[in-house]
Amino acid sequence: MGYKIGLIRGDGIGPEIVNEAKKVLDHVASKYDIQFDYTDILMGGCSIDVCGEPLTDEAIESAKNSDAVLMGSIGGNTTTSPWYKLPPDKRPEAGLLKLRKSLGLFANLRPSKLYSELSGACPLRSSIAEQGFDMLIMRELTGGLYFGERYTRDINGVKTAVDTLSYNEDEIRRIAVKAFEVAIKRRKKVTSVDKANVLDSSRLWRSVTEDVAAAYPDVELTHMLVDNAAMQLVKDPGQFDVILTENMFGDILSDEAAEITGSIGMLPSASLNETRFGLYEPSGGSAPDIAGKNIANPIATILSASMMLRYSFDLNREADAIDNAVQAVLSKGIRTGDIWSEGCTKVSTSEMGDAVCAEI
Ligand code: IPM
Ligand code: MG
Repeated sequence: MGYKIGLIRGDGIGPEIVNEAKKVLDHVASKYDIQFDYTDILMGGCSIDVCGEPLTDEAIESAKNSDAVLMGSIGGNTTTSPWYKLPPDKRPEAGLLKLRKSLGLFANLRPSKLYSELSGACPLRSSIAEQGFDMLIMRELTGGLYFGERYTRDINGVKTAVDTLSYNEDEIRRIAVKAFEVAIKRRKKVTSVDKANVLDSSRLWRSVTEDVAAAYPDVELTHMLVDNAAMQLVKDPGQFDVILTENMFGDILSDEAAEITGSIGMLPSASLNETRFGLYEPSGGSAPDIAGKNIANPIATILSASMMLRYSFDLNREADAIDNAVQAVLSKGIRTGDIWSEGCTKVSTSEMGDAVCAEI
């Protein structure tokens, strides 16, 4: 069996963490007799430096020719990096938005769970952390405010900026279906998050979501306003199974859900379209301050590789092997600096990759 994997190493800690995920994939390949062929794809600041733009048409083509793409992170320090002197559509992040749009990656899955070994790193009160949580945010990724018409102009002599938030029923339906399909394999609860007391797009979101729910009688659907959801995430995160929400709300809530796990360096993500293709990336950013020091946590990228095996390649046994190896490493007290605590063994990025391989 052979699979073509596009590798976007990107900027900052991206190359280091992707190297460790590739190390783990190579280990899985030899153990389970699978072949992975890799193609490097330039995106982000490194593409600006070489090609003058964050994502070239050739890069998009090579992503399309892959069975799945594994990405590290893109972007740099927004106050000091010359990339941020460029017009907004030429900056590193524009490459990522363009890739998501070109590949139709409308469904962004961001699981967030508290590992019991790391509950000490959870910033919530221990009475809340002890309850644990295991949720998945299903974020709509190619619509809403981030892709609506936008401009800044003088209107009657006053500088005015406009961003538009629009969703049609088809865009809402397809992401809702994804949420219910995932929920049915989990604890069968969908919390749809919106701002239906104010926004038309949210009212449409609510009614389409209810239509979709009718086809999934075993899944319980509830609606929650986004401001309340932000509060419930820190008050009682254990109540959530699948959170279904639009692009910007999902962007914000997924960072909050990540933070309460203790380290954003633990969280993988998948961005999917209607086919089996997917873009897999850690939820964290490029962390330019620690880049090149071999101290970043590669676990989120390793778990993203596991999601790739599961969702794009249907290699569930191999994905389980990676997830179990990460769990075993944590149980042995092996930690990168971001999740280290007294009594644990502190390891580097590459040592963490080796430790995961050793458990597979
Ligand atoms: C994320 C990031 C991106 C987003 C940025 C870099 C455009 O914050 O993946 O959550 O908002 O989608
Ligand atoms: Mg974000």
